[in-house]
Amino acid sequence: MNTKPSQDAAKLIIETFRQRTSGSGEWNTRAAESMPGGDTRAASFYTPYPAYMTRGEGCFLYDYDENQYIDFLNNYTSLIHGHAHPPTVSAIQEQAARGTVLGSAAEVTVEHAEMLCSRVPSFDSVRYCNSGTEATLLAMRAARAFTGKDIIIKMDGGYHGSHDYVQVNIQPDSSEEGRPRPRLSSRGVPEAALEGMLVAPFNDLDAIRDFLQARSDEIAAIILEPALGAGGGIEPEKGYLQGVRRLADEFDVLLIFDEIMTFRQDVGGFQAAIGVTPDLTSVAKFIGGGLPLAAFGGRKEIMAPFAPTHPMTIPHNGTFNGNNITMAAGLATMKEFGAEQVERINELGQRLRNGLNSAFQTAGVGIRAVGSGSIIRILWSREKLTNARDAVAAQEKALDLPKLLHLEMMNRGIFSAPRCQYAISTPMADKEIDVAVDVMSRSLEVVKPYVQEQTPHLALD
Ligand SMILES: Cc1ncc(COP(=O)(O)O)c(C=O)c1O
Repeated sequence: MNTKPSQDAAKLIIETFRQRTSGSGEWNTRAAESMPGGDTRAASFYTPYPAYMTRGEGCFLYDYDENQYIDFLNNYTSLIHGHAHPPTVSAIQEQAARGTVLGSAAEVTVEHAEMLCSRVPSFDSVRYCNSGTEATLLAMRAARAFTGKDIIIKMDGGYHGSHDYVQVNIQPDSSEEGRPRPRLSSRGVPEAALEGMLVAPFNDLDAIRDFLQARSDEIAAIILEPALGAGGGIEPEKGYLQGVRRLADEFDVLLIFDEIMTFRQDVGGFQAAIGVTPDLTSVAKFIGGGLPLAAFGGRKEIMAPFAPTHPMTIPHNGTFNGNNITMAAGLATMKEFGAEQVERINELGQRLRNGLNSAFQTAGVGIRAVGSGSIIRILWSREKLTNARDAVAAQEKALDLPKLLHLEMMNRGIFSAPRCQYAISTPMADKEIDVAVDVMSRSLEVVKPYVQEQTPHLALD
């Protein structure tokens, strides 16, 4: 029976991947016996199976079958200097030799905190935890404690980690019309989580104003990523974040920026770049130099109750909070990430966006490279999209195209997030960007039959 060219293209891509990574395939079969799905993190899963990466050097990764990749995933933006950055490795080795976690206060934690507070406009003071999830949980708790109110407004498609209160509308419902209805994003989360949350579309000031006009006496805070990451790569419209700040002030609620992904966009985060200062901020990813670390912080009076001696203290614990080895790694990494490095990787980011957009144009595929600074995302639409629901609807209509492009890029040595998100690291130069653009052009030729037959709305010719 004759197959369609689109089926042949998809089959070829998947078969090539399986052949190149057969060792990973064997590990995957073994892994499924001890871990459901064969691994332990949903965001790093893709079909037919994820490649097993065995080592990294600078901006390169090597898999079990010794294939080399340029690493544009960077562990979801957290490896700002790529892999095995020599000053960070030395700091880790030195600290390991003196003890990884000494279970008491440490100078290195103070130095790290001073660096964060000197950089991030909203940080009068900070506290540390071990994941971004914890940082947003604690920022929300701080806001609720400070205001004495419970409800928090989040964005449709906003991602803030995996604690219960933010398992609400992570994935927008593309079939819905009008304002988003709050929905749980995971089974196992109590319905009660919905009572504490309201959901607004990103880039829609009216929706936030309506909530505040109706219920500001119950609303503690608005939490948002300055640019939506997992929610489709949506940038804020001009004036939007300034407008949210004004609304928060007008109705006396707190503004929380989740800068876990966007912190890398400027020395002081996205907030410094656009001149909007929230009351609280969460940061994570590269601040731990490749080890797990996150922080939350903000205005002094909001953070003060985290002092154990405060009369109305908010207990804040964590066995590994501020552990010595992570702080040492983070400090070594941050010391080498200043204005010059930010500017350089942001320029490389723009070079990649421009290169990808011309590759799409030349190949006649109606998708767009968007994002800002050193983070590049693909919108599966030729239109300008301003909210997560439209971005998700476009991705759904692109069917298997994102998956096939991701795999074909891997077949040609480019590693990225399965959703085709690319993050620049400081060891990269023009050469790596140009290789990625060239690989995209060649991958587009391979997927073109799929676009023409399965997603003709994305075919430009
Ligand atoms: C914006 C944002 N918030 C929160 C998180 C959760 O951080 P973690 O995975 O460290 O828990 C992430 C992770 O990607 C994120 O991008």
